[in-house]
Amino acid sequence: MPSYLEKIDKTRLPKHIAVIMDGNGRWAKERGYERVFGHQAGVESVRQTTEAAAEIGLDYLTLYAFSTENWERPQAEVDALMELLVDSIQKETPTLNKNNIRLQAIGNLMRLPEKVRAKLCSCIEETAQNTGLTLVLALSYSSRWEMVNAVKKICRDVRDGSLNIDEISTDMLSGYLTTKGIPDPDLMIRTSGELRLSNFLLWQLAYAELYFTPVHWPDFKKNDFYQAIYEFQGRERRFGK
Ligand code: FPP
Repeated sequence: MPSYLEKIDKTRLPKHIAVIMDGNGRWAKERGYERVFGHQAGVESVRQTTEAAAEIGLDYLTLYAFSTENWERPQAEVDALMELLVDSIQKETPTLNKNNIRLQAIGNLMRLPEKVRAKLCSCIEETAQNTGLTLVLALSYSSRWEMVNAVKKICRDVRDGSLNIDEISTDMLSGYLTTKGIPDPDLMIRTSGELRLSNFLLWQLAYAELYFTPVHWPDFKKNDFYQAIYEFQGRERRFGK
């Protein structure tokens, strides 16, 4: 496989890349292991992708780490994923600081176990002053949940008189989503061959380029990430014009 880093035009980088990390379960099953083993192996790909994004100078990287639907998985798998999250966040906070990376999170964070939320909040606080890459973890996130939530907030503001119906615009609605202040992704990567958005950033991905690779998430490494950026640069974006 060629090295894609040299092929990338560093003056035309996307600002924000969003990733659906898929295929941990299949990767593990193909090797005769339990699914959880795939999630553990996937942490290394999270590390590699984040490092690659920081090194190349990306502004935002969003990783779909846990969807609203993932709560329906067997309790043991949910617990293992939560444990992995706590461990990874705890272990990686010094590395995030060393690399000037700021952590943020989107989703229904109130649904997360207290221990996960506490670790997450302290990592967000400890990295808040960093000015390099912003790493956004989507946790207990789904786009439809986010939109319903936004509609409720808008209705309350209209009812309370702080918002006029005629003021509702695309930009204003964006400000009611959990991604408030984060630019829309230019590129969405999904691993493991599924050609779906699976309730991920449906509003924000309106004009994003979509990139699908058959590589399972635990096998997705720096060069795979660079390849996606390289292919993105070969596309013509017209934004409907
Ligand atoms: C999808 O694979 C992956 C997930 C639901 C979880 C992703 C989580 C990690 C990589 C670990 C921790 C994350 C961080 C940010 C430290 P799948 O289980 O849906 O795979 P399958 O489609 O093959 O079953």
